[in-house]
Amino acid sequence: MIRADFVLRHAGQLATMVATEDDPLGRISEGALAARDGLVVWVGRDRELERAVELDGDQLDAQGACVIPGLVDAHTHPVFAGVRADEFAERVAGVPYTAQQGGGRGIQRTVRATRAADEGSLLRLVLKRADRFLGHGTTTIEAKSGYGLDLESERKSLLILRSLAASSPLRIVPTFLGAHVVPEGVDRQDYLRQLTEEMLPAFRSLARFCDAWCDGPAFTGKEAREVLQRASSLGYEIRVHAAQLGPGDGPQIAADLQAASADHLEYATRAQIEALAGAGTVAVLCPSANFTVPDSKRPPIEMMREAGLPMAIASDLNPGTSNSESLTFAMTLACVLWGMTPIEVLVGATRHAARSLRLERAGALAVGAFADCAVVDVDRPEDIPYYVGVNRVAATVARGRLWASS
Ligand code: NIG
Ligand code: FE
Repeated sequence: MIRADFVLRHAGQLATMVATEDDPLGRISEGALAARDGLVVWVGRDRELERAVELDGDQLDAQGACVIPGLVDAHTHPVFAGVRADEFAERVAGVPYTAQQGGGRGIQRTVRATRAADEGSLLRLVLKRADRFLGHGTTTIEAKSGYGLDLESERKSLLILRSLAASSPLRIVPTFLGAHVVPEGVDRQDYLRQLTEEMLPAFRSLARFCDAWCDGPAFTGKEAREVLQRASSLGYEIRVHAAQLGPGDGPQIAADLQAASADHLEYATRAQIEALAGAGTVAVLCPSANFTVPDSKRPPIEMMREAGLPMAIASDLNPGTSNSESLTFAMTLACVLWGMTPIEVLVGATRHAARSLRLERAGALAVGAFADCAVVDVDRPEDIPYYVGVNRVAATVARGRLWASS
């Protein structure tokens, strides 16, 4: 008998996300799952559970709802203070996003508010965001700094992420995004020097990944490459905000550095997409940010498919372009705005997202995987994006325990 400290029973359909020849979702009808110490120890048909598993712990009844792996959100900016709802209202009235950057507005405004926030209040904001992620079925997030933009405030942001990881069952994968934009009032060359000589070496133990935004309002290809090359030589793994607002070298830099992910990619070219596929990089697409920035370009989805480039879907939670912890809403948008299929977006928010974080145990339900899953009130897992902007998640299991909002 297999010993378990948690079981989940009576899943109408349980999507393991371990693809079989005839089902990319690897689903089990009338499924069940058993876990011990936060890892899956058994998964199969419910009627076989009692013969195989001895339970000493809690049992959750899915009552015929679907069970999927906990969603994996591979691109979020959760450490920020303040709101920019007025900028949203301006954009829907026709003001371009780029015109809102600079002059103390846009990202710089969030930097001011984040620097001014004390650690306690910032942690409280971030904990609420973590609860919203969990409530929407997300059990793992990649989480960026990037609204501090000086040594002390970036350190504060990364330490908040460490405290968050210690106080929430949400799995946090920290990324240093000091190269978000050049902060106001600081000389560009000076900031690049601080980034490469002070911040990158100082944060090695606080962040697994390093990211840079290579686009008009942020860093040039030459600058981003320099920062990311230095990060890579220090042992960071690489992610790149690339070609979101205009064409540029970001995607090629990601390919050259064998980045774990290249993100946004609205303006990526065919050659860049092929280079990314060849480098083993994952495309992390951010439909909600695309949605709230008028005149956004549709990313070249067909080229990505043709090149065999794995596509992940992310919420891109941030105060400027996507104030949303709902990955299921991002999945709906990717289907409706871009013509991705419901199966593509489900794979994108689980397996491909986990791959972009280099987390082998996330994004699928198999023996040895994280016992992270969501019970969703739908007939079939691929129906999730059909429900528009409503949360059909009935329960979230994180680290082998039923999560309850704090
Ligand atoms: O992913 N692209 C850069 N960063 C964010 C937006 C940041 C902001 O406006 O605060 C994004 O869309
Ligand atoms: Fe982003």
